Amino acid sequence: MIVLGLSGLPRSQARHLEDHPGIGPLDARICQGLDSAAALLVDGELVAAASEERFTGEKGTGKLPHHAIAWCLDAAGIAPEAVDVVAHGFDYDRHRRAFVLSQQHFDDVLTSRSVADALTEHGWDVLADRLRPVEHHRAHALSAVVPSGFDQGLAVVSDGMGEVESLSVWRFRGTELEKLHSQPIAASLGILYGIGTRFLGFQFNSDEYKVMGLAPYGDPERFRSVFRKLARFDADRGSIVIDWPKGALADAHRGYPHARALLAEQTFTPNPPDGSIQRDEADFAAALQDCLTELLVALVGHWLERTGERSLCLAGGTFLNCKSNQALAALAGVDRMFVQPASGDDGTAPGAAWAAAVEHGSLNPAKGPFDPYLGPGYSRDEVRAALEARPDLTWREMGLGEDYVSAAAEDIAADRIVAWFHGRMEFGPRALGNRSILARPDGDRIKDRINSAVKFREAFRPFAPAVHVDDRDRLFVTRGFAPDLYMLATAQVRPEARATLSGIVHEDDSARIQTVTPELNPAFAELLVGVRERTGTGCVVNTSFNVKGQPLIMDPVTAIDTFSRIALDRLYIEGFVVEPTTMIDPPAPVPGSAG
Ligand SMILES: [Fe+2]
Repeated sequence: MIVLGLSGLPRSQARHLEDHPGIGPLDARICQGLDSAAALLVDGELVAAASEERFTGEKGTGKLPHHAIAWCLDAAGIAPEAVDVVAHGFDYDRHRRAFVLSQQHFDDVLTSRSVADALTEHGWDVLADRLRPVEHHRAHALSAVVPSGFDQGLAVVSDGMGEVESLSVWRFRGTELEKLHSQPIAASLGILYGIGTRFLGFQFNSDEYKVMGLAPYGDPERFRSVFRKLARFDADRGSIVIDWPKGALADAHRGYPHARALLAEQTFTPNPPDGSIQRDEADFAAALQDCLTELLVALVGHWLERTGERSLCLAGGTFLNCKSNQALAALAGVDRMFVQPASGDDGTAPGAAWAAAVEHGSLNPAKGPFDPYLGPGYSRDEVRAALEARPDLTWREMGLGEDYVSAAAEDIAADRIVAWFHGRMEFGPRALGNRSILARPDGDRIKDRINSAVKFREAFRPFAPAVHVDDRDRLFVTRGFAPDLYMLATAQVRPEARATLSGIVHEDDSARIQTVTPELNPAFAELLVGVRERTGTGCVVNTSFNVKGQPLIMDPVTAIDTFSRIALDRLYIEGFVVEPTTMIDPPAPVPGSAG
């Protein structure tokens, strides 16, 4: 059985911008149905998944993922006619009555018809005919339950909003889900955090990770009472209650001005962000982050205790928050935990596909850890052709042998910043070593150097480490749950390791780690062994291979072009080593460097 999974609502954002002319960039993403992606299940196996943004360069787009669809089918050699079901990660059709005040918008944007029409417009009538809507939170829940491999447990979904709910709690046995609890959109943690993000002058539904990065610089006590008054956990109902005053959530398209005014009344009026760390803003971020973490810990702890379950699966945009995930992983009632790496709506593409496969009894149980390398990969010939088209560049072909990995390890040990491009592209927002920029983690200036070379990001945002599994426990305190494999939870850096990892330790002594195993990424693991041999530590800075405003790079042509325009020291790409157009002198050696 062949199932194609889709996310996104093709007309949603365009309609949002049309209906509200003059809308600013901070509010451009306050709409449903972004993060379009496609995923393909062939006889119960997830064989391909990719976000549309990677093909078009339009970050987080909600448009029909037609490039991703075409690529998934092509990669698997499947004709559109051979697809049995097209599963879409929203099912608004059954909620028509809830949208009685906005019927036109409902008909034009939210119904499955809008997706079917978009498929037809692209010449895929056959796919349009086989469209099957899947409840949004069910798709999110299965996006974590299926790849977790857990036989039973509790699944929690939290996001901005699904069709009519914003948080749901499920008990699962195998792939059978039972919904235990659901919360309305007015009690959305995603919207609360988004409003806080917008309050600080960042983009709603996009920049929430910046608030998380800013939080450790602030004092949560100063504004704690503001959030305690607004949001609380009701232990009798097992529910989060957010007491927005009447009208606070009106005019969402303008960035929730009433809710922001309410927050300003009780706190301060923020300055537009300028990349620096400002006291009021950091204190606000700290209180908001603590509020989220406390509420999630209370809710998840409650439902674990109430059900007696000990295995936890999480999905939905809220669970890209690594600080909260760290607190959830520390709960005594949790024995195992899995977070879907694509926890935004991109993850509902495979989630919806799994829902359809479960219904048809066509699903294979997970074997081993979930493999997130589900996107396009490229042959050596394709990379060579891309290089040959650039006579201005200096490159050599080494092949993927030991010498190649040693050369890369040597470069990193010598404090060079290296772009590393191998295998299939990651599914989900994090670069996990196939499209990454890597560097030594111990230079005090490493953040500045990467920022000035390529990232241009806010000074308060930390860089994250990738660590070989054999080095993990002597450097970090972690229970070793699955989220560590996918850079989805922070871990505390051990005091004795802080000097060695000075480039990646955040203000609160945490780091958003990726544990690299030979099983999931043998080439990356081998590189880390090489770095360990030269520096004593099998750990590197790992940040996504892209420049500001660009989605994660997908293909060799873009990788080579981007590399040629920025000041990285080397590009290692499928057995080829590319030098910068203008050779950059390596920086002065780091004291104590063995390399
Ligand atoms: Fe969602």
